Amino acid sequence: MLGKIWKNYGQLPSSVEYTKEDVLQHPVPEHVAIIMDGNGRWAKKRALPRVAGHYEGMQVVRKITRFANELGIKVLTLYAFSTENWKRPKQEVEYLMKLPEQFLATFLPELIEENVNVRVIGNRSQLPEHTRRAVEKAIEETKHNTGLVLNFALNYGSRAEITYAMQEMAKQVQQGDLSPEQINEEVVSSYLMTKDLKDPDLLIRTSGEIRLSNFMLWQLAYTEFWFTDVLWPDFTEQHLLQAIAEFQKRGRRFGGV
Ligand code: FPP
Repeated sequence: MLGKIWKNYGQLPSSVEYTKEDVLQHPVPEHVAIIMDGNGRWAKKRALPRVAGHYEGMQVVRKITRFANELGIKVLTLYAFSTENWKRPKQEVEYLMKLPEQFLATFLPELIEENVNVRVIGNRSQLPEHTRRAVEKAIEETKHNTGLVLNFALNYGSRAEITYAMQEMAKQVQQGDLSPEQINEEVVSSYLMTKDLKDPDLLIRTSGEIRLSNFMLWQLAYTEFWFTDVLWPDFTEQHLLQAIAEFQKRGRRFGGV
């Protein structure tokens, strides 16, 4: 309610609380993408090992997935592991690779019940077998679901994705199945891992970092960005409501007037 009063007066102070009903009065973004950052710092602040932050982050994934579904968001893309994250200490990488299994072991029945369609973008072939098996099981068991698409970016890097797309297009050109003149933006999009998904409407990044970190560089061309200092394990439904409310205030013109 307060949100509505403030809406016409420019920048909202972050202390404004929104209700689900407030944001549902306006169209919600169909595709929300999140760079979930700050797990390590959350743990450090509590003198806990970094992996404790990742564990807590996983609980927040569960909470936000439920809430996104309730809000009628159609696609939720979560940056869970980047192609650069392999450079982290071995133990941390091993832990991160166990998270999808842990998450799905307890949450998959609920995802199925809630009609959620699990997908993954990123290079799956480089994942440890146990991780790959867990995500492939979830993809298989939810492939006919028509509700929220829960899209994990796992071993994902946007430059690698674009490079691979270029290689594939070059091969098609070489074989005579595609001419250079035929290559337009739709064709490029159709070679990306997100080919079945509309581009994100809203990008959220937590923890105060203001950069894209090789995430969906092509797909974010017209996306609204929302940055917050909140660390991912502290991210709540209220923060998502604030991001959406801010999105709803912005006039998207896609380069027009
Ligand atoms: C970045 O924080 C976070 C990650 C690299 C991992 C994100 C993973 C999760 C939130 C859990 C994923 C859950 C599933 C189900 C796959 P950081 O470690 O870089 O934090 P820092 O910048 O504070 O060190």
